[in-house]
Amino acid sequence: MSGGSRSGAQHWDPQRYNRNAGFVAQLGSPLLDLLQPQAGERILDLGCGEGALTEKLAASGAEVVGVDASSEQIAAACRRGLDGRVVNGEALAFTREFDAVMSNAALHWMLNPDAVLQGVARALKPGGRFVGEMGGAGNVATIAQAVGAALEARGIDSQAANPWYFPSPQDYAARLEVAGFEVLSIELIPRPTPLPGEIAGWLETFCESFIKQVPQADQPVFLAEVTEALRPALCDGEGRWSADYVRLRFVARLKDRG
Ligand code: BEZ
Repeated sequence: MSGGSRSGAQHWDPQRYNRNAGFVAQLGSPLLDLLQPQAGERILDLGCGEGALTEKLAASGAEVVGVDASSEQIAAACRRGLDGRVVNGEALAFTREFDAVMSNAALHWMLNPDAVLQGVARALKPGGRFVGEMGGAGNVATIAQAVGAALEARGIDSQAANPWYFPSPQDYAARLEVAGFEVLSIELIPRPTPLPGEIAGWLETFCESFIKQVPQADQPVFLAEVTEALRPALCDGEGRWSADYVRLRFVARLKDRG
């Protein structure tokens, strides 16, 4: 689930990821329905993380390659018996090799979307499918606002630490077309998502590039402050936390350029 430029500021611990974000792969199943993988097809999973959804993809009988920028996550994917490779999603070096590319919850970590899309287009055979889901415009806006406010209150530029790209459908469709794709569908899907534990676990898993701007001794106070700012909006009366996810889901096809 990691990819490019500033994602180097984020470190991925597969055990912590499973504890706080196991739902990411579970909720990615609709992508498989859209992708309709066929036995014998060669499919690239871009930003495969520790491979939970990749494993389901491989169960279709397709020949699957999973790539991710995190060596820890790829080591976990390989332990599942998958063909996992450490690759920067902004520098894919495959040529006309795949019938389809799938990506779940990874593209928003790649801050150079045009480089990603050029690499995906190059990796696909003519007519190949690209099916993806990522954070879209407005994704985790409540959380980002609270984190940003707590950083700004300390005189820290939160925008400079922002590791995410959450595009609108119009923005991403235009980029897909420039890269040579026909966009078959693209939509924003608000999906408030129950979390398996406290919001602090989510923040520690996904907001490392923000948190590390704060001196270590102040980090517990910073996390407590953000938690209290979020409680009214994201914690219900029973103490159950959710995150204000908005997905951008699309299906595209590489035009046959001969
Ligand atoms: C997402 O999947 O939308 C996401 C997860 C963590 C941080 C930001 C976005």
